[in-house]
Amino acid sequence: MGDEVQMARALALAERGRGLCSPNPMVGAVLVRAGAVVGEGWHEGPGNPHAEVVALREAGERALGATLFTTLEPCGHFGRTPPCTGIIIDAGVARAVSAIRDPNPVVDGRGFERLAAAGIKTEWGPLRGEAERQIGAYLKHVRTGLPLVTMKMAASLDGKVAARDGTSRWITGEEARADVHRLRAASDAIVVGAGTALADDPSLTVRDPEYRGAPVLRVLVDARGRVPATGDLFDESAPTLVATTERSAEERRKEWHAAGAEVVSYGSDADLVPLERLFADLGKRDLQAVLLEGGPTLAWTAVRDGLVDRLVVYLAPILIGGRGAPGILEGEGFASVAAAGKVEITRFDRIGRDLKVEADVHRDR
Ligand SMILES: NC(=O)c1ccc[n+]([C@@H]2O[C@H](COP(=O)([O-])OP(=O)(O)OC[C@H]3O[C@@H](n4cnc5c(N)ncnc54)[C@H](OP(=O)(O)O)[C@@H]3O)[C@@H](O)[C@H]2O)c1
Repeated sequence: MGDEVQMARALALAERGRGLCSPNPMVGAVLVRAGAVVGEGWHEGPGNPHAEVVALREAGERALGATLFTTLEPCGHFGRTPPCTGIIIDAGVARAVSAIRDPNPVVDGRGFERLAAAGIKTEWGPLRGEAERQIGAYLKHVRTGLPLVTMKMAASLDGKVAARDGTSRWITGEEARADVHRLRAASDAIVVGAGTALADDPSLTVRDPEYRGAPVLRVLVDARGRVPATGDLFDESAPTLVATTERSAEERRKEWHAAGAEVVSYGSDADLVPLERLFADLGKRDLQAVLLEGGPTLAWTAVRDGLVDRLVVYLAPILIGGRGAPGILEGEGFASVAAAGKVEITRFDRIGRDLKVEADVHRDR
């Protein structure tokens, strides 16, 4: 079988670690000898063995002379676990193929250098684009210190996220809503605006039966302290952080604290929470994948300020219409079609009765 087939298998294995690995990257490994797979592995998160070590353990002596396929360059340093390169060399692997170089400064090509110095044939392998997309949040965070921000919205086919009476439950069907829980499960933080918290009282928890990870941080963006601590965002099912400004009343902050939330106040002159600073602060906490769940006022500011990397839009086969019903993005909007934000559609799928559209936001507008 060709290298591409083996790497595709390694990517599929890596995917099993989604939602479990952070702040480590998802990694998959396949060990092949004489055309037969002799070992497979994926990383299950901090403290657990790396994917290549799991594959090597499974292979045992059959690793001798084998080719190792990994979605990410093996590490050559001591972290929470010993360096993988030493284990690969000791096992007698003949050839190592990795889809991407690990930009983490403690690796950054040195993993492959060590393998090559030990006489192992090293090759940057196929499916680099797929591998980079899979661990996009890790890569962005390593390179910039910032999280990868995905904006998710559910809208009617005419682009409305709520009706004029403010109701938005349930625009999309059950399957699409289950898919949102998978998106949440793959995130390190879920962000929502004060308007949505007041209108919908969301709990923003991961309700995916397959999810084995820790509860995901919920972030409420509430500049003036309009949201009381009585809603579901303040239940004990997951940690909550409130991002506010000096405009919120002391009493409200005490209430949030008493409900167990962490409160971060941005003493800016601006009326709103400075999202750029908030996201940078989330990055400093090693939170790499941020899911922005709206509403449309908050989403607009994030898009306008160039803070959104990816979009996931669910389009339902219903029409809402009306000037008073909010669209996916509110705020002032871009002035002309020529000035519009450009995105590239990367995928579309039918999910139950709805359409799921995924896109990357272009930075070079
Ligand atoms: N279908 C969907 O996918 C979906 C998703 C979410 C929401 N919704 C619907 O959307 C509606 C609520 O949306 P909304 O637009 O009224 O509220 P929103 O976007 O959830 O929250 C906006 C509010 O957040 C606060 N805020 C603080 N910092 C901000 C910043 N930097 N940028 C923007 N806002 C900031 C502001 O209030 P303060 O100044 O008081 O802090 C602002 O008014 C509801 O009807 C809800 O059902 C639909």
